[in-house]
Amino acid sequence: MEALRLILLFIHLVGFALLLGGAIAQFLTGKFRINPAVLWGSIIQLLSGLALAAPLRGGGDAEPSPIKLGVKLLLAILIFIMVFVPRRREAVNKGHFIGIITLTLANAAVAVFWR
Ligand code: HEM
Repeated sequence: MEALRLILLFIHLVGFALLLGGAIAQFLTGKFRINPAVLWGSIIQLLSGLALAAPLRGGGDAEPSPIKLGVKLLLAILIFIMVFVPRRREAVNKGHFIGIITLTLANAAVAVFWR
């Protein structure tokens, strides 16, 4: 079980790197387009996050709080919608793009600081 959890956590961190790295690299070019790294990152985060939310730590107090997981799921769904809907557009508004980056950072902060 522990090996499975660590593999899922690794995939989750790769998804985080794709989503945040892809968004910041794109932001720095000055053209606010949803690139494939951002799109795939948001998909990987949803799927690997849901898998990680399974009781893989033997249950009880060792598991993350269901409220924390609910907040993470809500933010991840929001990010996914914000990425998926305009994925074929040449560019989105700067504010929309900053929103994606902010929500991504917020979800990482929830993961790390909510104990
Ligand atoms: C954009 C979406 C997401 C981002 C940026 C994100 C970010 C992170 C990061 C950085 C970690 C590592 C924290 C650590 O190991 O201390 C983590 C762990 C984790 N994430 Fe996510 N996550 C996202 C979506 C989700 C979703 C949708 C779920 C499930 C509802 C989820 C569930 C978890 C779980 C269970 C862990 C294991 C560590 C823990 O929370 O105690 N994540 N996430």
